[in-house]
Amino acid sequence: MTRFLNVTILLLFTAGLALAANSRKQQATEQNRRKNAAKDRETIEDSETTDQCPEPNGFFADAEQCDKYYDCRDGEITEKLCPDGMVFNDYSSEYEKCDLPFNIDCTSRPKLQVPQPSQHCPRKHGYFAHEELHICDKFYYCVDGKFNMITCPNGLVYNEKAGICSWPDEAKKKGCSSEEVFQFECPKVNESVAATHPRYADPDDCQYFYVCINGDTPRRNGCKLGQVFDDVHKKCDWVRHVPECADWYKGRLTDEQLAELENPPTPKPRPTKVSRRKPSRPPRPASAED
Ligand SMILES: *[C@@H]1O[C@H](CO)[C@@H](O)[C@H](O)[C@H]1NC(C)=O
Repeated sequence: MTRFLNVTILLLFTAGLALAANSRKQQATEQNRRKNAAKDRETIEDSETTDQCPEPNGFFADAEQCDKYYDCRDGEITEKLCPDGMVFNDYSSEYEKCDLPFNIDCTSRPKLQVPQPSQHCPRKHGYFAHEELHICDKFYYCVDGKFNMITCPNGLVYNEKAGICSWPDEAKKKGCSSEEVFQFECPKVNESVAATHPRYADPDDCQYFYVCINGDTPRRNGCKLGQVFDDVHKKCDWVRHVPECADWYKGRLTDEQLAELENPPTPKPRPTKVSRRKPSRPPRPASAED
């Protein structure tokens, strides 16, 4: 029995030697395979650690999704989402801050949560263009899925990239170019005139005029109430000085109101008003203008 066992062991041993001798190549391959497997495990572990806290404490942006972030406390990680429409502000890991996307760069983490739209609000929070392409000066401000419609000041249109009102040539909104919005084309001028950003009266409205930036891009500007654009002197002036527009404020403002706009009644001096502002520079010496 013992002998039989010994023989078996011997045989196995020999077989083992033979195997070792015959398959150095195979062995090397096997070693490589194991090494690679180990490397793979390392990579998996590495990518797992990117899900863990990069530092024990702080707030950290997700690598792919702009509105997802991680709250780390003593190395404990909690995944969080910004309110719909806002994105994580990754300027500092100290603060838990979600902002509207206009000043946050999401190009390297462009994914976003599934939107929760409601009337006029493609997402719960944010500024959104009017649904109708040709309505350029109106947009929606949405808070928690409730909208407020905002109208841009005269001459400006909604700028989708900045979330504010801008000149049409800056907003570059589709269907809302300067020409489309104003229906005004800057007259062709030579280079020296173009460089002065020439002004032209708005043919339809005495209170307004166009400034042609570099001679070719119109921006509509207004004169203050009571004034009109004097196309001869190329400036705003009180309506009584501009004969072409003499009747412009008829029915809207009385002569008394116009006179009051031009010469506002001096307000009664307030008693003992002390300036709380420290003078930041020494007072100017009285000049000829004063
Ligand atoms: C440009 O046009 C203005 C007005 O039409 C003219 O007075 C001026 O001489 C012109 N300048 C040049 C360089 O052609």
